Amino acid sequence: MNKDSMLFAGRGKNNMDKILYGGDYNPEQWPEEVWEEDMRLFRLARIDTVTLNVFSWAMLQPDETTYDFSKLDKIMELVRKNGLKVCLATSTAAHPAWMARKYPDVLRTEHNGMRRKFGRRHNSCPNSPSYRKFAAALVEKLAKRYGTDDTVIAWHISNEYGGMCFCENCEKAFRRWLQDKYQTVEELNRVWNLGFWGHTMYDWEDVVVPNLLSEEFISDGVRTTFQGISLDYARFNSDSMLACFDMEKEILKKYSPDIPVTTNFMGMFKRLDYQKWSSHLDFISWDNYPGPADTAADVAMRHDLMRGLKQGKPFALMEQTPSVNNWNEVCRLKRPGVMRLYSYQAVAHGADTVLFFQMRRSIGACEKFHSAVIDHAGHEHTRLFGEVAQLGEELEERIQDTVLGGRISSKIAIVFDWDNWWAAEYSAGPSRRIQYCEEVSQYYRALFSMNYPVDLIGAEDDLSSYSIVIAPLLYMCKEGYDEKIRSYVKQGGTFVTTYFSGYVEDHDLVVLGGYPGKLRDILGVWVEEIDALYPDEANSFIYKGVRYPAEIACERKHLEGAEALAFYESDFYAGMPVVTRHAWGRGEAYHVATRSNGAFYKAFLRDLCENHRIRPAADTPEGVEATVRKNEKGECLFLLNHNSQEVSVCLESGGTELLTGTVYAPGDQLKLEKTGVAVLFRPE
Ligand code: GLA
Ligand code: ZN
Repeated sequence: MNKDSMLFAGRGKNNMDKILYGGDYNPEQWPEEVWEEDMRLFRLARIDTVTLNVFSWAMLQPDETTYDFSKLDKIMELVRKNGLKVCLATSTAAHPAWMARKYPDVLRTEHNGMRRKFGRRHNSCPNSPSYRKFAAALVEKLAKRYGTDDTVIAWHISNEYGGMCFCENCEKAFRRWLQDKYQTVEELNRVWNLGFWGHTMYDWEDVVVPNLLSEEFISDGVRTTFQGISLDYARFNSDSMLACFDMEKEILKKYSPDIPVTTNFMGMFKRLDYQKWSSHLDFISWDNYPGPADTAADVAMRHDLMRGLKQGKPFALMEQTPSVNNWNEVCRLKRPGVMRLYSYQAVAHGADTVLFFQMRRSIGACEKFHSAVIDHAGHEHTRLFGEVAQLGEELEERIQDTVLGGRISSKIAIVFDWDNWWAAEYSAGPSRRIQYCEEVSQYYRALFSMNYPVDLIGAEDDLSSYSIVIAPLLYMCKEGYDEKIRSYVKQGGTFVTTYFSGYVEDHDLVVLGGYPGKLRDILGVWVEEIDALYPDEANSFIYKGVRYPAEIACERKHLEGAEALAFYESDFYAGMPVVTRHAWGRGEAYHVATRSNGAFYKAFLRDLCENHRIRPAADTPEGVEATVRKNEKGECLFLLNHNSQEVSVCLESGGTELLTGTVYAPGDQLKLEKTGVAVLFRPE
């Protein structure tokens, strides 16, 4: 396989000839008598990979000077004997109690100024000198001890980095971060617009963390009186955690340069700028826990965002629950077939592993009612174990290496940018109803419903391979980004953006002279003002003969070279353009000045795709998702039935369905039972 596309590229000895299957395994929480039984059950379910040592710091280091690897050695021996591959975690995601007692600087301080006590997990201050010192020491010992172990196929650094800290060590580190970035206090005064409300600072020491005790605006924990400060603090917090990751990575690489490192991301997770993090990881891995309101499109979008972090390279599905999770108000079981469907959905969007949290369900604390491969019953005769074992068999016997390394090719990109997410939602006005991910989702869902493959890309990514680039809520047009779009459009690209775009530069300072600022010449419009609508209000417009709603925000804009494709129908801006198209250079730029509904996005985006002759992955009945992954062996068309009834798909081209072995000819009907999956393979 093309080395570039391999997840575990460094480890030539570990022959990756199938989708890795397994997940988090915590035998240290169980008496040793059950370990052999675990191994028997793993074999039954075809489990070949385990993530070990995620929360073991307390066991590995019972006090400041004692380290004890005896149990982990035994576990490593156990899994080695049983031929399992290991994703070895560094255990630094929860500090031991003795450390919190003796070195309280490891504890975080909340947004409200409250210093936490020992408790929970993912709980260490990223700028705590004690945390960093002890974490580095532990990681060095792990790296020396296990870094040459052949069973280790990846290092799993910490776990689900997240949260924020507002302690004094973070405050000091924030000042250093700012000094580094802005050099002088004068520049700081400028970029944060500190002339406002007499906030002028005279010394770096005047900088304090933006929290409830300082810049809180309308106590909701989100809004802030100085968005520039809070935005920089969000960036700094993400960088602080990244520095912890890098610290561990550097040590691991010193002892085991060929073992790839990762940490488990969480999809659309606001606190960390994953695009900035991505180049620091050898491969992307993430934990997929759809919430009760999430649709198949929402989950697909997160997979695509994760895949986009490394320009389309396959990623690892690091965790998913076999059935139920434990944090919802109502913890509903995944219906029969749904775990399998979601697993294939991950693979269909670029995952080369299917891993679960966790292998054996715990007996106490908050995850005792979170499902696991081995349930409290303790044997294999459960519905869930049966489903896990069936999937394990399929992945091993039927899918094998046909999809490994496979890429998804897309002519459409949606820009997703953490700075924009943070800045648009910190903003005081025009409306709290403007939600970044929700806006992005509108465009994604429409494309998803028609099976158009989409890449989610960052502001740094190249645009030249795309026919259509959509940047919803590009509120902040960062230094040079307008130039990037300008040349993309001039060279023939189709660019789409929305209301509340181009308003500010990198520091959240408004670009003067009229919105959408630096995008104005590209879009050929001038936005004079933006109206915010209450939830029960709507304007409307007619696009190609059909009336659609205009909600949340409506911009009053004037044409400056663009043509209007639709006009507002009511209120004092009735007759003003809503949807505009600017033919520019060899390309075109669209501006959608409001939020509409799914039907509009579908109609609008279908037109754009058809103009560019972009083909969907397949034509399917509603609720059936289709994607194509292609590697050097050929291409796999995934058909995923999210409906709760059987459907039939008319195949445009034939192939061998891998799960049943059935050979189909073009024009054949393929039946999919409810939650059913088909993988149609066509050799190169
Ligand atoms: C997260 C964590 C795991 C576990 C699961 C439970 O994703 O990484 O340690 O707590 O949630 O779903
Ligand atoms: Zn801190």
